[in-house]
Amino acid sequence: MTVHAVCPGSFDPVTHGHLDVIRRASLTFDRVTVACMRNVSKRGGLFDLDDRLAMLKEVTSDLPNVELAVFKGLLVEFADEHGIDVIIKGLRAVSDFEYELQMAQMNRSIGHIETMFLSANPEHSFLSSSLVKEVARFGGDVSDFVPPLVAERLADRYRTDEAT
Ligand code: PNS
Repeated sequence: MTVHAVCPGSFDPVTHGHLDVIRRASLTFDRVTVACMRNVSKRGGLFDLDDRLAMLKEVTSDLPNVELAVFKGLLVEFADEHGIDVIIKGLRAVSDFEYELQMAQMNRSIGHIETMFLSANPEHSFLSSSLVKEVARFGGDVSDFVPPLVAERLADRYRTDEAT
């Protein structure tokens, strides 16, 4: 039996924290789909879907059992349509736990699918796409937090924004 996992998220943009979870999932499961949510309605949405996917593609290209997909609507429907067995989430801190627990229970209730949590690498426990964007927006160095390609894209984006 092969086990197919999904790592869902907005990936706006992908960080070393996401990559650590994706990488570890790829070592644990036969097949991993990184599912990028189509609409980032959250405040502070920066990159469009094509940009987020292009960055994800580049930084996961060394992981042979990882594929990318886009989803909108309910994650459980995507999981059902794609034969996904398990949802993988990273937990950074206790503050993540309450919401993630609720989502896991709701997804289990409506979609009959298990969620498994990977504990974030302590080096990444404070890391989020939102904070990375904030640091980059004000010209801070984000090279410890995101792959070089993403750092470049962030710098380009905020340079362009400044110019307009
Ligand atoms: O990277 P993010 O923004 O923290 O990812 C959140 C995401 C996309 C995993 C979550 O919001 C999600 O699964 N959204 C899809 C809609 C859905 O199924 N919601 C959960 C119902 S409990």
